[in-house]
Amino acid sequence: MNSKLPLLFLSLTAVLLMTAAAAALTVTFWDVYYITYGQSNVKYPSNNGRIVQLGLTNITGSGFASKIPYLFGRFSMRVKLVGGDSAGTVTSYYMASTFKKWGELDFEFLGNSTGQPTILQTNVFSEGVGNREQRIYLWFDPSADYHEYGILWNQALILFLVDGKVIRVFHKATDLGIPYLDYQPMYIYSSIWNGDSWATRGGQVKTNWTAQPFVASYSGFGENNACGVKNSSSTTDLHACYTKLYQSSYGQPPNLALSQAQISHLKFVHDKYLIYDYCTDLKRFGGVQPPECGRNWPSVSIVVEPRLQEFHSHGLSIFDRSPHLSRDKLTL
Ligand SMILES: *[C@@H]1O[C@H](CO)[C@@H](O)[C@H](O)[C@H]1NC(C)=O
Ligand SMILES: *[C@@H]1O[C@H](CO)[C@@H](O)[C@H](O)[C@H]1NC(C)=O
Ligand SMILES: *[C@@H]1O[C@H](CO)[C@@H](O)[C@H](O)[C@H]1NC(C)=O
Ligand SMILES: *[C@@H]1O[C@H](CO)[C@@H](O)[C@H](O)[C@H]1NC(C)=O
Repeated sequence: MNSKLPLLFLSLTAVLLMTAAAAALTVTFWDVYYITYGQSNVKYPSNNGRIVQLGLTNITGSGFASKIPYLFGRFSMRVKLVGGDSAGTVTSYYMASTFKKWGELDFEFLGNSTGQPTILQTNVFSEGVGNREQRIYLWFDPSADYHEYGILWNQALILFLVDGKVIRVFHKATDLGIPYLDYQPMYIYSSIWNGDSWATRGGQVKTNWTAQPFVASYSGFGENNACGVKNSSSTTDLHACYTKLYQSSYGQPPNLALSQAQISHLKFVHDKYLIYDYCTDLKRFGGVQPPECGRNWPSVSIVVEPRLQEFHSHGLSIFDRSPHLSRDKLTL
């Protein structure tokens, strides 16, 4: 046995890892995304497609979308949110399928007055049904620096991740009659828009335009590990994503179930940072808890907690956050 082999193997591994990291670094914004609206409010401070800034003014918001949709994967985006007095602004990072039966996975950051905490609202739509809002505070100031917001989406579960830590899980629960997002590719979107009719304390605080433009910065465009679908009507393309799913880290153990550490972190978020949870808002659902709730909050007892806020939706829809989508493009 040649004693130099392990060393050679190690350096080859290092080279491969470095190549993968370099590949992720060389992916530009334009390789993966395009601007959907508000072009005049979009800035590219580094000029090399590594950072993109979306701005909101009293004239328009702005947004981008992925060029192609994806079916399963590990998605991530590094975002530095609007700082200072951002009350009324909403910055979103989400995935949505805009064909057949509408599915959606949302991160929405609700701005606040200077020094007041930003709220992170998440939601899951499957087959056109949403009403699964959860709201938390973050354990850091999301406007002070970039943080990673991610989604793991495979055949068993969907995780919402913040800096790699799970803040929410949506398990497959077709046995409970809940449709799962497992056959429709989804596009990735981001946008910043004026949500002052509902976002800050149910619309009581209006956006103060003195501080415009409100700017959210994005980076990390090459970090998705997912299956892109070139032609959503092609069953061959969709089947290829299932093949890739079972061969990729995102579709294999340990990513098919929560680890003990993830369960502990979910409990930590539930106990320390949860502000609103549809699972405890029984009056919205005729007194009956949605069936998936017990499965998605492992190891925590779900009781109706008076400390949790009331939900104010005021008719918010995907069209508010993505004005480029028109209703006739969707078959809901
Ligand atoms: C937008 O803000 C600018 C600068 O504050 C102001 O001059 C303008 O009247 C505003 N426009 C609208 C439509 O509110
Ligand atoms: C803003 O801060 C206040 C006070 O801490 C809090 O009650 C509110 O929920 C925060 N978020 C929004 C979006 O209003
Ligand atoms: C808007 O922001 C400006 C500048 O910070 C401040 O002087 C003004 O009082 C704010 N207006 C409101 C209505 O809070
Ligand atoms: C997409 O796939 C469908 C079904 O196989 C096919 O009819 C269509 O021509 C394809 N479109 C493109 C642009 O390749």
